[in-house]
Amino acid sequence: MADLLCIGTTGMLAGCVRSLIADGHRIVCLARNPSRLEALADSIPDAAKSRLSTSPCDYRDLTHLAEVLDALRFEPTAAICWVHSPAEPVLELIRSGFPSLDLLRVVGSSSSIPEILGDTPSRIVRLGFVIDDDRSRWLSHEEISAGVYKAFVSGAKDSIVGTIEPWDQRP
Ligand SMILES: NC(=O)c1ccc[n+]([C@@H]2O[C@H](COP(=O)([O-])OP(=O)(O)OC[C@H]3O[C@@H](n4cnc5c(N)ncnc54)[C@H](OP(=O)(O)O)[C@@H]3O)[C@@H](O)[C@H]2O)c1
Repeated sequence: MADLLCIGTTGMLAGCVRSLIADGHRIVCLARNPSRLEALADSIPDAAKSRLSTSPCDYRDLTHLAEVLDALRFEPTAAICWVHSPAEPVLELIRSGFPSLDLLRVVGSSSSIPEILGDTPSRIVRLGFVIDDDRSRWLSHEEISAGVYKAFVSGAKDSIVGTIEPWDQRP
């Protein structure tokens, strides 16, 4: 079981957190809104509640983020990060605090993969879209959570949820 740091996972990735908790992982979630963090904690079954902790934090405030990372009740071995651009300063701070972290970065369809992968040791999961018959649509929250969960447990360096090709058929 891993000790996981999850950032930006109270919205479309809440289902992913629930799946990881159900698998027995211990997780700390960071996001700004305490009531959304509380709603996520409330959605965890009682028997597993002790494995989820939450900490309100705006990741744009790097000083506060560093303090929160310093005060974590465990040293994370893995992380799932959905961080809006510019994400690099946030991810750099996390990597510098936990150099051997297995960091899975969630990115949107339009992000440039070669640019993101660079020389960084992060894994990437890219959110695409779905083509149903002749029509395309964006992924549902359930599909995003399930796809990011699958990418995390697979250990794959580079994953796609849905498809990103043909790009001109995106919704
Ligand atoms: N297919 C695609 O390419 C793709 C990509 C991205 C999104 N989408 C869609 O777009 C919709 C909206 O995306 P969204 O980003 O709003 O997703 P979301 O997952 O619903 O919300 C963003 C998450 O990041 C946290 N967050 C945001 N800013 C933060 C900050 N400064 N510090 C700490 N935590 C922060 C939010 O919590 P707090 O607000 O409490 O901080 C929340 O947990 C989604 O519903 C999804 O369906 C599609």
